[in-house]
Amino acid sequence: MNTSLTITRPDDWHLHLRDGPMLAAVAPHSARLGRAIMMPNLVPPVVTGAEAAAYRQRILTALPPGATLRPLMTLYLTETTDPADVLAAHAAGLIAAVKLYPAGATTNSASGVRDFDRVRGVLEAMAGAGIPLCVHGEVTDPAVDIFDREAVFLDRVLEPIRRRTPGLRVVMEHITTAEGVDYVASQQDMGATITTHHLVINRNHILVGGIRPHYYCLPVAKRESHRLALRRAATSGDPRYFLGTDSAPHPDRAKESACGCAGCFTAPNTLSILAQVFEDEGA
Ligand code: NCD
Ligand code: ZN
Repeated sequence: MNTSLTITRPDDWHLHLRDGPMLAAVAPHSARLGRAIMMPNLVPPVVTGAEAAAYRQRILTALPPGATLRPLMTLYLTETTDPADVLAAHAAGLIAAVKLYPAGATTNSASGVRDFDRVRGVLEAMAGAGIPLCVHGEVTDPAVDIFDREAVFLDRVLEPIRRRTPGLRVVMEHITTAEGVDYVASQQDMGATITTHHLVINRNHILVGGIRPHYYCLPVAKRESHRLALRRAATSGDPRYFLGTDSAPHPDRAKESACGCAGCFTAPNTLSILAQVFEDEGA
């Protein structure tokens, strides 16, 4: 029986390493990756090129000796982001992408965007310079059911933004629905990340037989048919779908709480789970 497996060194296109003692604790679990897109939703968020450069340095300091991880930094888009700072940070090689959080959509997103018209200038500058926009694709309208928030985002927010900003490169991050898979497949200038956990859990795993807070993340896992659509996309070989683990550590006390926060910490188990998924799919 085979006891070892040789794979291409993986890149992770959506990773939370946090800061301070949490960064020191979790960084070793991602040290053997190739490259990783670093999420900027620190408290306070990484908004300027200078902040991204400083955060990159803290990440490098937290990595163990011999680590291969190359952190690719992102800026947290706010309604007051200066297009000139984004362009300068990108031209200087400090950032790889800009992250759009609709305000209130997920953990540490309070400084995100409420009025998408107010970031029009930044998005146009990004389209001109070829800077990708990484998107947390959920509407925050309280009238929209949490299980529908991704699908509604595609129609209500993403499609209008893309129509009025031709050439903008967009990554729809952590897609969780068949609608997300299909939207990406039908578009130009787009890709999508898929997390590890959305390939192996559906909403029953969170809610049946007791509530399991460590499976709760946003976008929340959907019904089984969506999980199967994600697995087909992830193992199809179509290069528009790529891994973004969204490994998102939180202290146990914040997860195991009357109001537990969103985020699944998967970095330690990701590669073994993915190996199993690909083996199961014969891919
Ligand atoms: C992430 C976090 O904890 O920062 N949580 C999550 O549920 N995925 C934020 C995010 O990527 O949405
Ligand atoms: Zn995330």
